[in-house]
Amino acid sequence: MADSSDYKTDDTPVRQGADAAPPARTDGLPERFENPGLPPHVPRRADVDEAAAKRAERQVVAMFALSALGTLGFIVAYFVVPADARGTVVGIGEMNLYHLALGLTLAVSLSGIGFGAVHWAKTLMPDNEVIEERHPQASSDEDREGAAAILRSGWEGSQLGRRPLILQSAAGALGLFAVPLVLQVAGSLGPLPGRELYDTNWRRGLRLMIDPSGTPIRAADVTLGSVFHVMPEGWVGEEAEEELSAAAILEAKAEDQVILVRLDPALIQSEKQRSWGVDGIVAYSKVCTHVGCPVALYEQQTHHLLCPCHQSTFDMTRDCEVIFGPARRALPQLPITVDDEGYLIADDSFQEPVGPSFWERERG
Ligand code: FES
Repeated sequence: MADSSDYKTDDTPVRQGADAAPPARTDGLPERFENPGLPPHVPRRADVDEAAAKRAERQVVAMFALSALGTLGFIVAYFVVPADARGTVVGIGEMNLYHLALGLTLAVSLSGIGFGAVHWAKTLMPDNEVIEERHPQASSDEDREGAAAILRSGWEGSQLGRRPLILQSAAGALGLFAVPLVLQVAGSLGPLPGRELYDTNWRRGLRLMIDPSGTPIRAADVTLGSVFHVMPEGWVGEEAEEELSAAAILEAKAEDQVILVRLDPALIQSEKQRSWGVDGIVAYSKVCTHVGCPVALYEQQTHHLLCPCHQSTFDMTRDCEVIFGPARRALPQLPITVDDEGYLIADDSFQEPVGPSFWERERG
């Protein structure tokens, strides 16, 4: 094995052999240290007391048994609990019971294995400290030559070099064999989302309603600098809660939430932004174009919208362009106008997909 003293750094002279004197130190520390060795081994209770060892064994078995119960519970929950079962959980509120059951049973299952293995290792497995001397890692030239000879003889014995047709047909068969596996994986991913990624519930003529009260907004009531969090008519408020499932409302929120701000019209720098608003009132998707968090922080002085997740910042006076952070696209603007009664309504749906990027976004 190469001794570290055989290597030369800077202009340090190369030592020739183990007896050569090391260069004198200049930092005041001693030239050599005595190897302090390992501290004395302290036996654990289970090492010296058979009753304690038995107790530790029972504890490990109990944890593994608990894990097995968790796994059985997971299997039962997977087949028995309906995927859309919902219920109220104390301290959390309404949620999907199927996910809750799978999560809890899986947690018990994994925790049982983890805690059991750690407890086993810490109480019963040998804990003596050992020193393993370092040896050269590379095999000798002779061994390497032997291994290469074995590989060569295997290649020659297979005759693949002489009969390439066998090689090609085997590669074709194995490649084809992978196709059902890939199809199985792709098939279990569920149906393609189709137009769902492009469409929201916003339609021309729908009123902008305050979230969560479901109150319509008069353009005259939106003062300079005020901010409203809005949803489309029919998807927020008491009536919507009576008619729609909680899951449908949550799904709508994930794509329809909009932030409405009244800016000084003189600050607006884009003609499109101006014409899609009403006297400086502009509405933008709240779904961050990075990975979809709600962009809900509006800085009144700077007119910046801030995403709390990764600090993407959008400039409202410049059509919500990204001025900082990982987002790469501006927030989509919702065209709005007013109806006969002076309430703000959507003049159209969004003209581009809201939220994070996805394959084929541009094509859609
Ligand atoms: S989700 Fe908004 S910055 Fe990442």
